[in-house]
Amino acid sequence: MNTLIAVVLAYLLGSVSFAVVVSKLMGLSDPRTYGSKNPGATNVLRSGNKAAAILTLLGDAVKGWLAVWLAQHYANAADLSEAGIALVGLAAFIGHLWPVFFRFIGGKGVATAAGVLIGIQWQMGLGVLAVWLLVAFATRYSSLAALIAAASAPMIYGMVFGSDVVLLAIFIMSGLLIYRHRQNIANLMSGKESKIGSKKKA
Ligand code: G3P
Repeated sequence: MNTLIAVVLAYLLGSVSFAVVVSKLMGLSDPRTYGSKNPGATNVLRSGNKAAAILTLLGDAVKGWLAVWLAQHYANAADLSEAGIALVGLAAFIGHLWPVFFRFIGGKGVATAAGVLIGIQWQMGLGVLAVWLLVAFATRYSSLAALIAAASAPMIYGMVFGSDVVLLAIFIMSGLLIYRHRQNIANLMSGKESKIGSKKKA
């Protein structure tokens, strides 16, 4: 029962779309109406407002991290197992993808996944973040960096900690993240993907 409550609370926290909230608070257009139409930091950057993009990135990452941190912190009091904590992280991520507050139309989960991974095991999370940064700097494609980082996450975790329930949660998270990037994959393959910092098209 406690696990179910924690999972529902994590889902609600994950459902807060910082791209939409930050844009509204800063008087910017709704990110669901321009560029890739994705409520995420990369698309908010297409508005030309770097501060809004950074706040979106931080907000979406911190909510993932916070859900896992709270679950770990109150694991004993709430009788949460390691599987329960992994489920909480996954629930926050799923909240970002299908948010109850925004008619279940959410983002692609990159920043939230980073926050969840850092919460689960910060060295592994930073390792995955380093993969994202390397690919992003080398190619200027945020989506390609996210896809390669997502693929690396279960590999990095599995190599260090072996196969356990957390690996399964990370595997599901990476799979969903890659699935949400299917339009980006098509754009990358046809050479139509826009690079980081390019202005909005619509
Ligand atoms: O964070 C999402 C990123 O990987 C791609 O975003 O707006 O280019 O589809 P976008």
